[in-house]
Amino acid sequence: MNIAFSNDAMKEFREIVARYPNKRAALLPALHLAQREFAWLPYEALEYVGRLLELPYSEVYDTASFYTMFKLKPTGKYHLQVCHTLSCALRGAGAICDHVKEKYGIGNGETTPDGKLSLVKVECLGSCGTAPVVQINDDYYEDLSPEQLDRILEGFKS
Ligand code: FES
Repeated sequence: MNIAFSNDAMKEFREIVARYPNKRAALLPALHLAQREFAWLPYEALEYVGRLLELPYSEVYDTASFYTMFKLKPTGKYHLQVCHTLSCALRGAGAICDHVKEKYGIGNGETTPDGKLSLVKVECLGSCGTAPVVQINDDYYEDLSPEQLDRILEGFKS
């Protein structure tokens, strides 16, 4: 796979790097940019970011694999990140995951065969006061029930 930033993304990359004292410090925003540009982060994208930042692949992979917001495999069009840390666990995160498994047939780390929906359990999303929380793509859905999740997903279809 031949991978490279578009002209606009490369411009943004240079602006990002210019904000930091050294290239290594720009790794996280560069990975965010790469994920936005390529939709997920295959080996080639990590290696490309490493080349741009003069970092070894292993270091880029270590960082990308540490944070659940970085996708190391393709995800569904609607990527559900269900917080399963304490507050959310106590307030129904498990029931949401069970519901997704039962209704859509996917468990943690899986994607529906049509590529529409994927599910991953994540650590605290930083919104414990409104548990349970599910992040769908870039947006948070809070104090969520399985029924509300269904309505949200139905809304995406229209
Ligand atoms: S425990 Fe779920 S957002 Fe903090």
